[in-house]
Amino acid sequence: MFTDADAAALYDQLNPWDATRYPSDAFFNGLVMDADAVLDVGCGTGSMLHQARHFGHRGRLVGLDPDLAALDRARRRTDIEWVAGAAADASWDREFDLATMAGNAFQCFVSDGELSASLAAIRRALRDGGRFAFDTRNPQVREWEEWKPSNASEVVDGSGRTLHVSHQVESVVDDVVTLTETTSAHDGTVLRVDRASLRFLDVSELGAFLHKAGFEIEAQYGGWQHETVSDVSRSIVTIARGA
Ligand SMILES: C[S@@+](CC[C@H](N)C(=O)[O-])C[C@H]1O[C@@H](n2cnc3c(N)ncnc32)[C@H](O)[C@@H]1O
Repeated sequence: MFTDADAAALYDQLNPWDATRYPSDAFFNGLVMDADAVLDVGCGTGSMLHQARHFGHRGRLVGLDPDLAALDRARRRTDIEWVAGAAADASWDREFDLATMAGNAFQCFVSDGELSASLAAIRRALRDGGRFAFDTRNPQVREWEEWKPSNASEVVDGSGRTLHVSHQVESVVDDVVTLTETTSAHDGTVLRVDRASLRFLDVSELGAFLHKAGFEIEAQYGGWQHETVSDVSRSIVTIARGA
C-alpha cells in the first residue's frame, strides 16, 4: 500500500527544502522575505512558504497547487492560505508583490494554451510592477538523458521501508518530455507509477511567452549565484516584472 499521502511525504524526503543549505532555496527565500504578499504557484507540499513563515515572514503567503495530497501536507501550517487549483484558473486581481514557481514547476505548463492562460492569470494576480520568479531546466543540457533506471535512488521512508525510486523517459516530442517515476519496495514490488510531461523552453521562447502575457524580463541567470546563462547552465532562473 502506497498512498498519495505517502507519495507527498516521499517527495519531501527526496527534495528537502532548506534555504540555509541549498543555494536554489536561498535564492527564492530572499525574494519571498523581501515581499509583503507572495503567491507560490505549484507550491506542492508547501515547504518554501513554511520556511518563510518559520523565518519570520509577517505578510500574506498563499500557496496554489492542483495536487490535493501535496496540499494536505502543506496544510500542516495553518498560518498560510492554501488553495487547490491550477494556475490558469486563478482569479486573484492585483493582490501580490511576488509570484514564484520553484522546483521547475513552470515546466508543468505543457501546451501553448495552458502556458498562456497560466501566465495571464499570474500576471493578473500581481500588482503593477510585481515580480514573477521561476526556474526551468535548460533544454540545451538535455537533463532528461540522465533520467534512466541506472540512476535510481534508494531511500528509507518515515515508516522504515526501503524504497527504490527510478525514472524512465517515455517520449521526447518536440520540446515536451514525458517520463514515468516508479516507486518500488525493497523486493522489487512496484508500489506506484507516476507519469508526467515537462516542457523545456529556451531563453528566447520563455521571453516570447512572458512578453505576450504582459511581463518584461528584469533578470535572467544561469545559476543561483547570478551566473550568465550559457549552453551548459543546467537551470534558467528568470525574474520577470509586470510591465
Ligand atoms: C516539481 S513540483 C514543485 C513543488 C514545489 N514548488 C517545490 O519546489 O518543491 C511541481 C508542482 O507543480 C504542480 N503543478 C502541476 N501543474 C500545475 C498547474 N497547472 N498549476 C499549478 N501548479 C501545478 C504540481 O502539482 C507539483 O506540486
